[in-house]
Amino acid sequence: MLFGKKKRVAGLDIGSSSVKMVELDGKVGNLNLVSLGFENLPDDTIIDGQIMELNTVSDVIRNVCSNHNVSADSVVTGVSGHSVIIKNIVLPPMSQEELEESIDWHAEEHIPYDLADVSLDYQVTGSNSESTQVLIAACKRERIDNIKQAIQLAGKQPVVIDVDTFALQNCYEVNYHPDESQVVTLLNIGASTMNVNIVKGTRSLFSRDITVGGSQFTDVLQRSLGLSFQQAEAVKRGVNHAVDGIEEKAIEPLMNNVTEIVAMEIQKTFDFYRATTEDNQTVVQKILISGGGSKLQGLAQDLSARLELPVEVLDPFRSIKVDTRKFDPDYLSEIMPEMAVAVGLAMRGVS
Ligand SMILES: Nc1ncnc2c1ncn2[C@@H]1O[C@H](COP(=O)(O)OP(=O)(O)OP(=O)(O)O)[C@@H](O)[C@H]1O
Ligand SMILES: [Mg+2]
Repeated sequence: MLFGKKKRVAGLDIGSSSVKMVELDGKVGNLNLVSLGFENLPDDTIIDGQIMELNTVSDVIRNVCSNHNVSADSVVTGVSGHSVIIKNIVLPPMSQEELEESIDWHAEEHIPYDLADVSLDYQVTGSNSESTQVLIAACKRERIDNIKQAIQLAGKQPVVIDVDTFALQNCYEVNYHPDESQVVTLLNIGASTMNVNIVKGTRSLFSRDITVGGSQFTDVLQRSLGLSFQQAEAVKRGVNHAVDGIEEKAIEPLMNNVTEIVAMEIQKTFDFYRATTEDNQTVVQKILISGGGSKLQGLAQDLSARLELPVEVLDPFRSIKVDTRKFDPDYLSEIMPEMAVAVGLAMRGVS
């Protein structure tokens, strides 16, 4: 558990383009979807992960809850991007008490900020007679305070601040029950951040947040074709006749350039992982994609061809019971990619 303690709560994903909320009920293995909300945020409300307009964000959180009957008063939310540092570190063998006492000292050299300015959490991921493997996660305290403030303004209690990429992994584990031999890359493409997490069974081997996402495609269309944000979004989503006088021919190369950047960044992550691991046996078998950015027409196929790996869409409701009288299956399948992180966050709230 990162930066807090466990409690029954809803998952609240405050993305840079929209707010998503998921409430679950039951136990792992027998989960039900209780409520689900999704509302867009105005452009530039959140920049570089920093909430610029606290009141706007808290209003949207309040609307998500009231419009979609979210009853939980407490929420789990997540952080991602540059302000989050995640590292797998290897320490000498030691007891839980020794680790507790020395973790700040060990973590210090891996965190490029003053420890007084960050929230630090850690988890032992493995231990043997030679070493203790520890996953550390740190986030700038001011970033966490900023998010907590927006949530409290909306009348909700933030009880756990998780990390988006771990929430994504949690969502995958609970829905897919992977065994030790399965090695997948979870790839969540948001508006401004891409979370990449290489997972073997239920162990994260390497995780990196990259500040590239769906908004890069929109930006390029906006700048190159002289469009407004809304027009560029519509063109990107393939809305026919969104703007008069724009030729299909002009769009494709612009989109391809960004796709190339996205693929290159993922490839760089794979290369970096390979260069820093002693394990040459582990080979990524497939990519499971999520996030609104993954809905771009042809992107999954394109990434699959460029990275020479199968790419599948992650289903965050694969092992969750959904009452189709209450939730429209068409709507649910349309927004499914965007809900992955929120579902993972909501899972922290169930036992
Ligand atoms: N049908 C679609 N085609 C192409 N892009 C889409 C489509 N639907 C949504 N998107 C893009 O998905 C992105 C939003 O995805 P998501 O909701 O996962 O991001 P976010 O969580 O708000 O952002 P972040 O996590 O990066 O802060 C936007 O860039 C949006 O334009
Ligand atoms: Mg997101």
